[in-house]
Amino acid sequence: MNAPTLKTQEEIAIMREGGKILARILHELAKKAQPGITTEMLDQEAEKLFTALKVKPSFKGYRGYPANICASVNEEIVHAIPGKRRLYEGDIITLDAGVLHKGFHTDSAVTVPVGTIKPEITTFLKIVESALYKAISIIRPGIKIGDLSELIQKTVEKKGYSAVRDLTGHGIGKTLHEPPMIPNFGKKNTGLSLIPGMTIAIEPIVNMGERFMKTLDDGWTIVTRDGSLSCQFEHTIVITTKGAEILTCLENIQ
Ligand code: MF3
Ligand code: CO
Repeated sequence: MNAPTLKTQEEIAIMREGGKILARILHELAKKAQPGITTEMLDQEAEKLFTALKVKPSFKGYRGYPANICASVNEEIVHAIPGKRRLYEGDIITLDAGVLHKGFHTDSAVTVPVGTIKPEITTFLKIVESALYKAISIIRPGIKIGDLSELIQKTVEKKGYSAVRDLTGHGIGKTLHEPPMIPNFGKKNTGLSLIPGMTIAIEPIVNMGERFMKTLDDGWTIVTRDGSLSCQFEHTIVITTKGAEILTCLENIQ
């Protein structure tokens, strides 16, 4: 299957429901990411939320992934398996999760501060988050994937950060990863055109230092080569006739 699948209004409604539940889960987990907690405890909290909200964690069992969420701290870029690592004041943690609801996946991630963090780290998070929202804001039917990629890359590189090249956003629906790939670097006016009904996960993954990464011996955890901090912001969106609708958000955050 190489062509992106187009979703019907009914399917989009299901993904909207699932996405809202996922936003709720991430919002609750973000509040719990306080000094002293371990990432394993966050995974247990996540499991309770998935169960209470009657959805399945998309990641558990995906290619053998053993946990409900990915919980990547500081120099961990993505896919850190929750474990004994404890959070300390001044850390940052990326909470990444997927929800499977009525046969459809949604995927979202957020990097949050643990207690008070240094101002330059706050700036780092703000810029990378803004890269995601800028990319979403330029979406119109017919826009090319390269337009999003270039905007994300420029937004973060202007500030001296590095977009990770070996990890990308992706189409999403009945499976967690579908075509097309959405790279965080590239050239405008290149690549596939987005059209209404496509559902994609856009996910700037950015290092404060150099862009290089390595995978740890657990086969999952990916860290920065230079030990610098890394963060990620991800939403699942649907292309509409007017632009884009974010599916992984709460209508109101209480
Ligand atoms: N959230 C990741 C992505 O955006 C997928 C994680 S898969 C897992 O593509 F198996 F590591 F959980
Ligand atoms: Co994703």
